[in-house]
Amino acid sequence: NANSLWGGRFEAGPSAIMEEINASIGFDKRLYAQDIQGSKAHCAMLVKQNIIPAEDGDKITNGLDQILQEIESGAFKFSAALEDIHMNVESRLRELIGPAAGRLHTARSRNDQVATDFKLWVRDVALADLEVGLKGLQEALITQAGTHAETIMPGFTHLQAAQPVTFGHHLLAYVEMFGRDRGRVADCRVRVNENPLGSAALAGTPYPIDRHMTASTLGFDRPTANSLDAVSDRDFALEYLNAASITAMHLSRLAEEMVIWCSAQFKFIGMSDKFSTGSSIMPQKRNPDAAELIRSKIGRIVGCYNSLMLSMKGLPLAYSKDMQEDKEPVFEAHDHLGLCVAAMTGMIADMKVFTDNMRAAAGAGYTTATDLADWLVAELGMPFRDAHHVVGATVKLAETKGCDLDQLSLDELQGIEPKITNAVYDVLTVEASVAARQSFGGTAPVRVTESVAAAKERFLK
Ligand code: ARG
Repeated sequence: NANSLWGGRFEAGPSAIMEEINASIGFDKRLYAQDIQGSKAHCAMLVKQNIIPAEDGDKITNGLDQILQEIESGAFKFSAALEDIHMNVESRLRELIGPAAGRLHTARSRNDQVATDFKLWVRDVALADLEVGLKGLQEALITQAGTHAETIMPGFTHLQAAQPVTFGHHLLAYVEMFGRDRGRVADCRVRVNENPLGSAALAGTPYPIDRHMTASTLGFDRPTANSLDAVSDRDFALEYLNAASITAMHLSRLAEEMVIWCSAQFKFIGMSDKFSTGSSIMPQKRNPDAAELIRSKIGRIVGCYNSLMLSMKGLPLAYSKDMQEDKEPVFEAHDHLGLCVAAMTGMIADMKVFTDNMRAAAGAGYTTATDLADWLVAELGMPFRDAHHVVGATVKLAETKGCDLDQLSLDELQGIEPKITNAVYDVLTVEASVAARQSFGGTAPVRVTESVAAAKERFLK
């Protein structure tokens, strides 16, 4: 038999296949709290505008409160025949309060209803959770950075040892990335925060509604300006998914570094037992599975972004059912990203740092060669390009002898450049190298200590 909420013109009900492809209740039940919140705001506005009688408004509000309890206690029976969360709630409302329930959908359509519910969810769940999670991750990174402001490790380009850096500086690089991610979350929140409710199906409504009232009840900054746009806009979900994708990319880079750092060949860090797994065949193994999964999850999250982008592509105004496919990618990305952020926060907070191994690796690979060139420029007035050449020859000699730069004798150095003096040895150590890099944003321990304090002010207040 025909649908009780929209079946007036239908003689037969949908086929089982139609019901299955059409139903969204399996996933959009996650919007129940926002759906009830939106309906209560709408109902209060209808009463205030004398569009529905106050006693019906009371019945509707009490009924919605009861439904909220039923859903939260698990007593609510969801039905696929009722398609989605909106009709499941409204149908139950009719069972509870009778015909007055039919007044709730005055001056409203599921098109503005779903846009409102989904915006509330993106704002109050997806963006809010990501903001809190990223802040916690930054806190873990900043704490480790403070502990390791003077810990020296090799800095890399092309994954080849380049110049020594401090581990604190390296960790603070990620604090900046996650700070920008939080900025994107905040930007998205600004644009999401316009109220579609009252746009009705697509054209607005002849009822004397007050859209400013529902906007302020629901915490929106203002009503959306154009009803057609309001029911067909999913930019807010795409912006969230884009911010989530960039965050996932940052997480995957950090995860990759952790995988490298905890390998036996590097041994810069040790992952705590809480975030490692063993091998069922190789008893010696301690695998960084959580880091590897974080490295991988970006695929799914970017997949979610692509999925919604392609659903929206080429859709004519206004609502089309394609848009029902907006929710699953957002829910999926939110769930995976939340896990990744939490796991990364735990891994960073718990990791053991093997400072001796980092220090030893920092000196290998002639990482102070640039310091030698800078010394030749500063002390001997040599043009940098000539200095570069001299240092090239010096590195070649050290390579032939199989030693570090500071292990070459003064005679050997003077054989390459006669004007070199004993003072050069002061700049050939990794400690001198990092200490010298005091430019704003540089790796010197004094700067890192300042940056840790600044990061606490900027990000953890
Ligand atoms: N379940 C639908 C969705 O998520 C609700 C909107 C239905 N609107 C309609 N005109 N059929 O998009």
